[in-house]
Amino acid sequence: MKPKILVAREVFPEVLERLRQHFDVDDNQSDAVLGVEGLKARLAGKAGALTAGNDPITPEVLAAAPGLKAVCNFAVGYNNIDLAACTKAGVMATNTPGVLDDTTADLAWALLMSTARSLPAAERWLRAGDWPGFRMMDWLGSDVHHATLGILGMGRIGQTVARRALGFDMTVIYHNRSRLPEDKEAACRARWVDKQTLLREADFLVLLLPYSPESHHVIGAAELALMKPSAHLINVARGGIVDDAALISALRQRRLSGAALDVFEGEPKLNPGFLELDNVTLTPHIGSGSRATRMAMAMTAADNLIAALSGQRPPNLLNPDAWR
Ligand code: GLV
Repeated sequence: MKPKILVAREVFPEVLERLRQHFDVDDNQSDAVLGVEGLKARLAGKAGALTAGNDPITPEVLAAAPGLKAVCNFAVGYNNIDLAACTKAGVMATNTPGVLDDTTADLAWALLMSTARSLPAAERWLRAGDWPGFRMMDWLGSDVHHATLGILGMGRIGQTVARRALGFDMTVIYHNRSRLPEDKEAACRARWVDKQTLLREADFLVLLLPYSPESHHVIGAAELALMKPSAHLINVARGGIVDDAALISALRQRRLSGAALDVFEGEPKLNPGFLELDNVTLTPHIGSGSRATRMAMAMTAADNLIAALSGQRPPNLLNPDAWR
């Protein structure tokens, strides 16, 4: 008998087909968000699960699924998974590092360029029929070329963003708990600085930290106050890293020129203050959202689950203590 698994959210049919070769699959192609109660009900009797970054794997959910052996996120972030509780319950947890670096870095750049030149607001203006023709003083933006790019959180995606800055002749500075080895710094022509220097000097500050209690509101009122009024903030990491209320206040008072955000505190709800502002670009958590990358993420999660339930160590195991 094949082991029973839950695919907690909609995935490509090819992924389901692959999983069905190994497992008895309970799918959720309607993509209804299951939440804690739904997961408790659907995980009972299952040996494994494929989950999205917003499916909560809490101690309560784990307690309802005593036969569970592996939870495989199709996301690089895993702040939806209580890793300590998984380890305690002997449940392996995995994520999908690497396969989404380029696509997420591409979106960071799209957002950076977008906020630099107010593209969404200018487009809304044009669509509304408000454009009287060329005028010298309309939509004056910020130059990206030769500006200073600051990156907070210099993991794989941060380095991928940095490498793209070369074509724009930018100066790249970064802050990370641990400094990169020299060869990696050279590959992305980036210089380590302390956090205050990063905030003070960046013309474009891109956030690429994982979310954890330690990174909660890492960018709040005090940090925003250190930034140049001409600067732009770009968040493609996780909601909650930025204090959204403090950001709205800084943008409203033009203490910060602009922001571009793909993630929000409490998403999918948005602080309504954002909607009143023209100097913020908003996208709905689509950092990894190219067809090829989403396919690669789902297939990576499937590979992890197949390995985990066939007695092999999953390639992207997050809690080695749960292994065997
Ligand atoms: C997306 O947000 C991810 O963590 O992969």
